[in-house]
Amino acid sequence: MTRSPAASVHGGTDSGPPIRFDFSTNAHPLGPNPFVREAVFRADRTRYPDPHYRRLRCSLGAFHGVDADRIVVGASASELIWRLTRCFIATGAAAILTDDRTFGEYLRAAKVLGAPVAAERSAWPLDTPVLRWCCNPDNPTGAFQDQVCETALTGMPSASVSHDLVIADLAYWPFRTILSSDELSLDEACTAVLRTQWADAVIQLWSPNKVHGLTGVRGAYLVLPAKPNSRINAETLTSLAPSWVLGADGVALLQAHVCQDAFDFLRDTAPTLRAWKKEQDRRLSAAGWHPESSSLHYALWRPPIEPDLQPRWHAHLRESGVKLRDTTSFDRPGWVRLVSRAPHDVETLVTLTERFGEST
Ligand SMILES: Cc1ncc(COP(=O)(O)O)c(C=O)c1O
Repeated sequence: MTRSPAASVHGGTDSGPPIRFDFSTNAHPLGPNPFVREAVFRADRTRYPDPHYRRLRCSLGAFHGVDADRIVVGASASELIWRLTRCFIATGAAAILTDDRTFGEYLRAAKVLGAPVAAERSAWPLDTPVLRWCCNPDNPTGAFQDQVCETALTGMPSASVSHDLVIADLAYWPFRTILSSDELSLDEACTAVLRTQWADAVIQLWSPNKVHGLTGVRGAYLVLPAKPNSRINAETLTSLAPSWVLGADGVALLQAHVCQDAFDFLRDTAPTLRAWKKEQDRRLSAAGWHPESSSLHYALWRPPIEPDLQPRWHAHLRESGVKLRDTTSFDRPGWVRLVSRAPHDVETLVTLTERFGEST
């Protein structure tokens, strides 16, 4: 584990000048979704939202085909990650299974909150309650983790099954589905995880701001497993949140997310996103970059720049309005994570990189 617990490294907006070509976030590069953005603009910010979010939880519950009592809303996925970790720790001795090669908030929350962390289940006896994070699809690789979730739930001796909790972070699940087929319905794209074998036993974490290209709007939700769990349940999780944890904008985003109009944008932009991805793969490969294969709209790439020159290269790009996600914090020094962008943006990246290479 190389990362300091307090450090939080992210792509996207930073304290520097505006970014013109942002390859560094995984948000929908063709966003924002106009229907969802309009719903957010119309949100009533003059009063508190319902502190129990009843209507919203009913809509999300109906969307996922579950009772509203199984839905817990939060200020964001990041907030829910911290709340789930606190909730798990609050129930007694607990251990967290994650590593620094996936989304960093799981590890940061665990370390800052003082929970023991390991990358392998074998680090603890089988009767130790373990909370396992499963980022599916993974960030930064885009790899599908169905097998990991399934093994976690079914591959253990029965004694430990009731102690371990698996949380599937599905932040990028809708991209997985919209990029794989033109024929999808809203339901299949944004809730289809329920039909897989393991889905009803995991805690599902959904964060729709990414797929709608509206990451500045904060709001996310959990779908709790059908089988009640004594450690993490709706009552305890709700009691650990401050009142009105989700603001009016977030409520509007989540309400709009379940509408067909919101999905129409995803369906209509999918062919362009796929074409961008294909062209970007071709252009970067031709320019000497090496990808780690990903079916998602983001992927890891090894650029044609020596690792020791990369800090200067990142700074050079950033000065020119281009930002990439350096993946050193994911324990992958020398690599970057890139979202698929328009051919013109990719050309800018290639040209700036070639110029930098020539100047060194
Ligand atoms: C896998 C994953 N989960 C959760 C989050 C956090 O989402 P939110 O914007 O809802 O805090 C991110 C953000 O990058 C992410 O990559």
